[in-house]
Amino acid sequence: MSGDSILLVHDGVAPRPDILGFLLNRYKVLPRRVRDLVGIRNENYLLMVVDCRIGRTSDLRELTEALKAFAQKSIRKLFISDGPDRGTTLSAEAIGAAAHLHRPLEASSLYFSVDQLILAGMGRPVDPARGLPAQKARGLYAGIDITERILQFAITGQKLSQDELYSAGDALIETMTETSLADWVRLVKLHHSRTYRHSLLVTGIVVGFGMHLGFGHSDLRRVALAGLLHDIGKACIPVDLLEKPDQLTPDEHIIMKRHAAAGREILRKHGGFSPDLVDAAGQHHEFLDGSGYPDGLMGSSISDFVRLVTIADIFSALIEERSYKSQLSALDAYAIMQGMKGQLDPALVSAFAHVAQQSSFVG
Ligand SMILES: [Fe+2]
Ligand SMILES: [Fe+2]
Repeated sequence: MSGDSILLVHDGVAPRPDILGFLLNRYKVLPRRVRDLVGIRNENYLLMVVDCRIGRTSDLRELTEALKAFAQKSIRKLFISDGPDRGTTLSAEAIGAAAHLHRPLEASSLYFSVDQLILAGMGRPVDPARGLPAQKARGLYAGIDITERILQFAITGQKLSQDELYSAGDALIETMTETSLADWVRLVKLHHSRTYRHSLLVTGIVVGFGMHLGFGHSDLRRVALAGLLHDIGKACIPVDLLEKPDQLTPDEHIIMKRHAAAGREILRKHGGFSPDLVDAAGQHHEFLDGSGYPDGLMGSSISDFVRLVTIADIFSALIEERSYKSQLSALDAYAIMQGMKGQLDPALVSAFAHVAQQSSFVG
């Protein structure tokens, strides 16, 4: 299990509840005391989070020794300290901190740092050998950041400004202009959370689709925001279910289906979201023949805008990897969509052929 876990190193009897709680919400975590670090051999972790006091020389020495003895030397380390303190930052840097956060901890900045370090640790998003310079990954980081903010907004009602959404949408569009769809698909697939992967994949695909259809900037921005927000209702679904490695049971599927109506309610309740974004969240699982959910809408009651999002959503879900199914190639996924006669808009499915082909990659 170590390969997909975060190692949380602490100096107390138990890890501090704030950091442990935040991390467990999203990742597999193995907490270890500093003194027990030496006992861990031949295991690889995604990231080490170090929540230890390092202000005193004796504490710093103990931690330095423990890190030296730790087998996985190249692991990236995120340090957490109690408050902003230049001395602590310098000490953390001296013993190999790749990043440093201090309390009070905010979930969004913690997740952002953790995700960035995990991605960087994989080496691939910024690997020039794969032809993707680091700056081209900024749209992805903007997407990850805003996805986290959107989840926070959905869960806590914490303010999410239009400006924030627009600038993330613009960063994504800019990246999509500079990066091939295949690169975007490859990048997004590196994210460890299925929920994030999916939202970012749908966003990239729907923006690519909009570009192919000749959309101007304001329409591209609308579809980008729709991609980011379409599954916002998943914030109301337990993380265990969202990240479940196996296929959902019928009962679990019923729970999962609630995300569409929940998303619509979240956006309506908070106000300020255009009706097409509310519809994208509430109706992206509706089908033209009335066989979708939550309302069994039919034909013309489903807007073109929603139809676009639905196509991007289905395609993304088909090409995503699940542990219980192998990922489909873009062309196989497209063939399945062509077979969904009566459910999807045929003219849009035809136009989508080009996007499916563009998003095809081997990796
Ligand atoms: Fe959905
Ligand atoms: Fe979705």
